Amino acid sequence: MILVTGGAGYIGSHCVMRLLEAGKKVIIFDNLSTGHIETVNELKKHGELEFIKGDLLNIEDIKKVFNNNIDAVIHFAALSLVGESVKEPLKYYYNNVMGTLNLLNVMIENNVKKIVFSSTAATYGEPKYTPIDELHPQNPINPYGNTKLMIEKMMDDFDKAYGLKSVRLRYFNVAGADEKARIGEWHNIETHLIPNILKSVFDENKTFNIFGTDYNTKDGTCVRDYINIEDLITAHILALEYLFNGGNTNFFNLGTNEGNSVKEVFDACQKVLNKNINVSTKERREGDPEILVADNKKAKEVLGWQNNKTLTDSISSAFEWEKKLSGKIYAKN
Ligand SMILES: NC(=O)c1ccc[n+]([C@@H]2O[C@H](COP(=O)([O-])OP(=O)(O)OC[C@H]3O[C@@H](n4cnc5c(N)ncnc54)[C@H](O)[C@@H]3O)[C@@H](O)[C@H]2O)c1
Repeated sequence: MILVTGGAGYIGSHCVMRLLEAGKKVIIFDNLSTGHIETVNELKKHGELEFIKGDLLNIEDIKKVFNNNIDAVIHFAALSLVGESVKEPLKYYYNNVMGTLNLLNVMIENNVKKIVFSSTAATYGEPKYTPIDELHPQNPINPYGNTKLMIEKMMDDFDKAYGLKSVRLRYFNVAGADEKARIGEWHNIETHLIPNILKSVFDENKTFNIFGTDYNTKDGTCVRDYINIEDLITAHILALEYLFNGGNTNFFNLGTNEGNSVKEVFDACQKVLNKNINVSTKERREGDPEILVADNKKAKEVLGWQNNKTLTDSISSAFEWEKKLSGKIYAKN
């Protein structure tokens, strides 16, 4: 039995779908703070899934879950809005760090010693070189990144003391949705580029803003590394196998090795939609690094992972999902 924390959220739900389709038994533990019961209900149609509504901040909630026979944990549950973490760091340290501490505590008590963890490129902070490999110094520039780095360090210490084996996957920008649009990215506060561009299609009065056009990049706009959700989930399945095969604690970047500028993403969206989207350019935002691109060699070499999907694949699947989410069917013309 695999325990997936945060399985009602965007990335966790895609992982649960993949596990269920592979015939695995799954428990989702989620407090639905940013996740959705509709997502859980969809997932239930695809295999043997138990949903437990609970909060990582309540250790008794977690203990109840471990009455089941858990073999490993995939830990997605977290708060992950960078701006909010700057304004409300207490909330972030409590939820992410304390929540994970509770989880690890109960895992160790129950002798469950395999965990795959959602870490982030935000643990690297301002890049010193690019593409960023796993040896790049980890120096986060916001509380969200700090919480994720603290958790990584906790996991190292717990390996030495208790033999907890972790794989920390440092995601770059995750994009796209389930190929059949059964589930997808569903954040009530959406800060990610692609869904925000796509959402502006459904609102004629909305204009998409590009922040900063004077960066030292190919076209002056910021460059990011967009990793497709299906490729990202494949890495989780391989990480789980790696742990079941006796692999040691490890950490991997998940990205494509390639960067796309905001303008390129915007143009690619217009092309997929076959529609012009209103756009305006604004001053740079504070704290946006110029270029964030992953060096993904290590995941390829050690996990045997491969990323196959293109940016267009991510935009197309995200658009199919957005149509469903908005309740509107936008006909291409
Ligand atoms: N989306 C990205 O591009 C990206 C990039 C890097 C890292 N990550 C990390 O990936 C993970 C998943 O991100 P997402 O985009 O799917 O976010 P999400 O908000 O859609 O999902 C997070 C889930 O965790 C649950 N949760 C939060 N706190 C909880 C708690 N205390 N107890 C129980 N459940 C709790 C939420 O209800 C939600 O269902 C997060 O850890 C995030 O930091 C995401």
